[in-house]
Amino acid sequence: MNLQPVMQRDGCELFQGDSLALLREFPDATFDAVVTDPPYSSGGFTRGDRMASAVNKYQMTSSGAAHVGFSGDNRDQRGFLAWCSLWMAECWRVTKPGGIFLCFTDWRQLPTVTDAVQAGNWLWRGIVPWDKTEATRPQKGWFRAQAEYVVACTSGSLGPEQERAGPCLPGVFRCAVNSETKHHLTGKPVRLLRELLGVVPPGGRVLDPFAGGGSTLLAARELGMPCTGVELNPDNIEIIRDRFLQAVMPMPASSPSSSRPPQPPCNPLSDPGKP
Ligand SMILES: C[S@@+](CC[C@H](N)C(=O)[O-])C[C@H]1O[C@@H](n2cnc3c(N)ncnc32)[C@H](O)[C@@H]1O
Repeated sequence: MNLQPVMQRDGCELFQGDSLALLREFPDATFDAVVTDPPYSSGGFTRGDRMASAVNKYQMTSSGAAHVGFSGDNRDQRGFLAWCSLWMAECWRVTKPGGIFLCFTDWRQLPTVTDAVQAGNWLWRGIVPWDKTEATRPQKGWFRAQAEYVVACTSGSLGPEQERAGPCLPGVFRCAVNSETKHHLTGKPVRLLRELLGVVPPGGRVLDPFAGGGSTLLAARELGMPCTGVELNPDNIEIIRDRFLQAVMPMPASSPSSSRPPQPPCNPLSDPGKP
């Protein structure tokens, strides 16, 4: 097992490989939060639909963009539940008591992911919908496919609310995907990740075991939070490297544990959003 990071930059370390195998090498209680977006193993309505390539499932032909595909997105439902339970349990082990777990999913996989987090020892605390705005695909005679979901958990109790630090955060985040600044087939807006990371104590160490195009890592960097990413696909490793090289926002001058840079909001709900 090669535990040498393939990138170390601006407080971020990136490993290339299978996340389940790599997570098993990380020490207990290393991270303050896991914020991740695994392969959904979703798409369509039938088992045949799910077996299509990630590009065929998730790339709108009208978008004009061409992104590389990724593996791990064709598990059947029982395999997906078992696999998620395994890596989520490893995430729980490497997270400090009271730490946070946020996991993206879609409507199809929401019940499976909420089962898997509990099988992986996490305390499931709720769902935070991500409203992708009216820029998403309309469906004639049916509801627009406008939302994805963040399954929100903690490692045990957060303690009494009156004794907790930190801001009161929105329960819904509205943020459009901008195809011009999307670097991965299913890339999430960095701005959305920045806002979600508001639940993590300043300076907290963040893990993303399915780093993709690196949106979580870039958001953590912008907030001055040390972070660790794992990504299987070498094309995506190159994308993350390039994005870090091109990222211009400076690290905060003062200690990351004492301040956060000002944040342009994804919300309020009337904001159609830019990345
Ligand atoms: C949904 S994408 C993440 C996108 C990311 N949140 C972004 O905004 O760019 C999931 C990623 O997990 C990676 N992946 C799939 N199986 C993996 C595994 N076993 N270990 C590590 N990465 C894996 C895929 O290559 C893909 O890039």
